[in-house]
Amino acid sequence: MARWRWIYLFTLLAICDICKAQSTQCICSSPVTSITTAFTTTTSSTSTMTSLATTTTNPTSTSLSPTTLPTTSTTTTQVTSTSSTVPTTTTAPTSTAASSTTTTSSAATTTAATSSIATTISACAQATVSIQLVQVSSDQIQVIPVAQNGPTGAQFNVTLSQGNSVVNSSATTSGSTVTFPSLLPATQYTITVKQLSCPNNADTSNNVTTAGQVIAAAVKIQNIPFTADMSNTSSPAYTSFATSFIASLIQSLPADIQALIASGQLVININSLTNGSIIVSFTIVASPSANLTVSNVSQSFTTALTNNTNYTVDPASLNFTAQNLCATANPCSVNANCTSINGVASCQCLSGFNDTSPSVPGITCVGKRK
Ligand SMILES: *[C@@H]1O[C@H](CO)[C@@H](O)[C@H](O)[C@H]1NC(C)=O
Ligand SMILES: *[C@@H]1O[C@H](CO)[C@@H](O)[C@H](O)[C@H]1NC(C)=O
Ligand SMILES: *[C@@H]1O[C@H](CO)[C@@H](O)[C@H](O)[C@H]1NC(C)=O
Ligand SMILES: *[C@@H]1O[C@H](CO)[C@@H](O)[C@H](O)[C@H]1NC(C)=O
Ligand SMILES: *[C@@H]1O[C@H](CO)[C@@H](O)[C@H](O)[C@H]1NC(C)=O
Ligand SMILES: *[C@@H]1O[C@H](CO)[C@@H](O)[C@H](O)[C@H]1NC(C)=O
Ligand SMILES: *[C@@H]1O[C@H](CO)[C@@H](O)[C@H](O)[C@H]1NC(C)=O
Ligand SMILES: *[C@@H]1O[C@H](CO)[C@@H](O)[C@H](O)[C@H]1NC(C)=O
Ligand SMILES: *[C@@H]1O[C@H](CO)[C@@H](O)[C@H](O)[C@H]1NC(C)=O
Ligand SMILES: *[C@@H]1O[C@H](CO)[C@@H](O)[C@H](O)[C@H]1NC(C)=O
Ligand SMILES: *[C@@H]1O[C@H](CO)[C@@H](O)[C@H](O)[C@H]1NC(C)=O
Ligand SMILES: *[C@@H]1O[C@H](CO)[C@@H](O)[C@H](O)[C@H]1NC(C)=O
Repeated sequence: MARWRWIYLFTLLAICDICKAQSTQCICSSPVTSITTAFTTTTSSTSTMTSLATTTTNPTSTSLSPTTLPTTSTTTTQVTSTSSTVPTTTTAPTSTAASSTTTTSSAATTTAATSSIATTISACAQATVSIQLVQVSSDQIQVIPVAQNGPTGAQFNVTLSQGNSVVNSSATTSGSTVTFPSLLPATQYTITVKQLSCPNNADTSNNVTTAGQVIAAAVKIQNIPFTADMSNTSSPAYTSFATSFIASLIQSLPADIQALIASGQLVININSLTNGSIIVSFTIVASPSANLTVSNVSQSFTTALTNNTNYTVDPASLNFTAQNLCATANPCSVNANCTSINGVASCQCLSGFNDTSPSVPGITCVGKRK
């Protein structure tokens, strides 16, 4: 249990999602974070963050949004307009909202792709497609699908998903850059390229983790009793404590950290509550461009927690540690070296492998063809 507390959130969510897809009986709850704060300043980002929070948390869990920012109204509008323009959509509401920007054009694209199939089907036997990464930052991924030996003008569907949930998608052609904005830091996404012009060909996919600095933290709260249902991340007791804890913590943080939270550059995730009285295990996930150090994060959060009148904190319990991402959530190619410094991972292709996306080192490392 102690080990699990620190294992990286999104890996577990992915495993949980795979389990849910295969069975209705999944034990997904205990170590998985169920509270995510994701605050952004723009309305479009807010709706994205809201839908992401929905897809990555347990159904009964709570996502916090600052009352000063617009929240659900944007998402609601998006879902409604998508439903009315695409009546045949059968996907879950969340994926519908996420893919709303492309669903309208997809019907036309599919028709064009279908008519070209007859004339180009023979070219499909040799058609391959690879994914070139152009840019991966803490909130954005840019890719180019690169086709070889396929029919000219072939159409592709590039999909970004998190676990089993589609976050965004775009219909495109070989060589075009596709940008996926409004993403969370230090989060694993899967990019899948479907060959629309060669529908029988296999998809190409690649896992890409956004840049991020992950600091694991723990604190013992002494004035609130632990109840057995707090170990269940879906329980009202867990949700209620975690919601109040994050809201209260944010209020006590210094203005510069609050600004990072408001701009989506810093996210606080609760990982677990354990008996002790209550030991809260959480992660602080920041954009590397925020230039935070473990020491200034530790200072800001220690002051906030010890100065917070709602909680009596055991000062000796406070623990802030840069996470070794190579051990918990290795973002590199299997053919790369991983290095984690101050909770930020970097990758380098092993010698003998070529990096086909040198602007994002160590993610696409290609060996000699046999
Ligand atoms: C999907 O990506 C497009 C750009 O490719 C962007 O305009 C849109 O906001 C994104 N949608 C979501 C839900 O992130
Ligand atoms: C692309 O794939 C996504 C996810 O499977 C789907 O929602 C979308 O409709 C597809 N778009 C096209 C043009 O096929
Ligand atoms: C991406 O990661 C998931 C687990 O997180 C794994 O099941 C899947 O095979 C990976 N996909 C690729 C293309 O490496
Ligand atoms: C928490 O730990 C205390 C002390 O070990 C124990 O008395 C109590 O029963 C535990 N509470 C729960 C809900 O497990
Ligand atoms: C966890 O809490 C949820 C919501 O109250 C409940 O439905 C579920 O049965 C609980 N799980 C366990 C293992 O107690
Ligand atoms: C303490 O909790 C109360 C109510 O739960 C809340 O209104 C107040 O803002 C909290 N104080 C701090 C410092 O977070
Ligand atoms: C972080 O550091 C880099 C390089 O030292 C600097 O260019 C950038 O402005 C800094 N960012 C912030 C938010 O301070
Ligand atoms: C954290 O420390 C770094 C380096 O000392 C500094 O650049 C940065 O502004 C500090 N950030 C905060 C939020 O205090
Ligand atoms: C601690 O809280 C008090 C009042 O609640 C406030 O005046 C003081 O500035 C806070 N100290 C720090 C270091 O934030
Ligand atoms: C702090 O947390 C780290 C990472 O979980 C752990 O290895 C270490 O033992 C903890 N330190 C203390 C003093 O509890
Ligand atoms: C990868 O790491 C190993 C061990 O640290 C080192 O021997 C090797 O040279 C590294 N390879 C590359 C390509 O950096
Ligand atoms: C890497 O690329 C170079 C130049 O394109 C090529 O000569 C070499 O064989 C490639 N190496 C591997 C391992 O594919």
